[in-house]
Amino acid sequence: MSPAKAAALRPILFPSGPLPWLKPAVIVAGLVPLVKMEIDLIRGTLSADPVSAGENQLGLLALVFLVASLACTPLQTLFGWKFPIRIRKALGLYAFFYASLHFGAYLGFDKQLNMAEVFADLTERPFLIVGFLAFVILVPLAVTSTAGMLKRLGFKRWKALHRLAYVAGILGVAHFVMRVKSNLTEPVIYGTILGALFAVRLGAWLKERARARLNRELGLD
Ligand code: HEM
Repeated sequence: MSPAKAAALRPILFPSGPLPWLKPAVIVAGLVPLVKMEIDLIRGTLSADPVSAGENQLGLLALVFLVASLACTPLQTLFGWKFPIRIRKALGLYAFFYASLHFGAYLGFDKQLNMAEVFADLTERPFLIVGFLAFVILVPLAVTSTAGMLKRLGFKRWKALHRLAYVAGILGVAHFVMRVKSNLTEPVIYGTILGALFAVRLGAWLKERARARLNRELGLD
């Protein structure tokens, strides 16, 4: 195994290390928005339309955590920081957690589990299909997020699968753009961040490819 691959695997297989409080802090912090929503709901201060407001907040939280998880590797590439990689999985799982609650709120509270209404809604509002696709992609990513699954799949296949997180991010942003009809500022901000993160990954990949080719040509590999 190359040193680069071993370095990439280390924080996944051995998540503890310096800053032992970091991961527990992220896990606790990730629950804060949910607790705040619950308090607002109980106090009746969430909104005049709590179902819609709750649904929107959960959807936005799913996107925020997804983008945050996608930012971890580019932050390491750009600044050499190691700590974001250690919280990447927690952030990704929070994205899935909030997406599940968002989907659950839509099915349970908005549509009251009336599947005929859900199917009618899907045909009338295509942004729902896009959101659903994003959610479907997040499922295998969450299921294979454990060190055991990484070992079972092998690093190469696991990495290829987890690149789908970008597709989920793009679909999440598209879902947001399609839902918002007038002010597109917020979805455009998320789209721009996602584009910048992707550009950093692409740049790193091209650099690595050029380095590998040069090594081959010089007979160093
Ligand atoms: C089965 C999957 C999904 C369904 C059925 C769904 C449904 C919805 C619905 C109905 C709304 C509008 C709520 C309202 O106007 O009251 C919404 C908004 C939103 N959803 Fe989803 N969604 C899904 C998945 C996702 C996923 C995976 C993400 C993120 C990665 C996401 C992010 C958002 C965002 C950002 C908003 C807008 C929030 C805002 O306006 O502040 N959704 N979704």
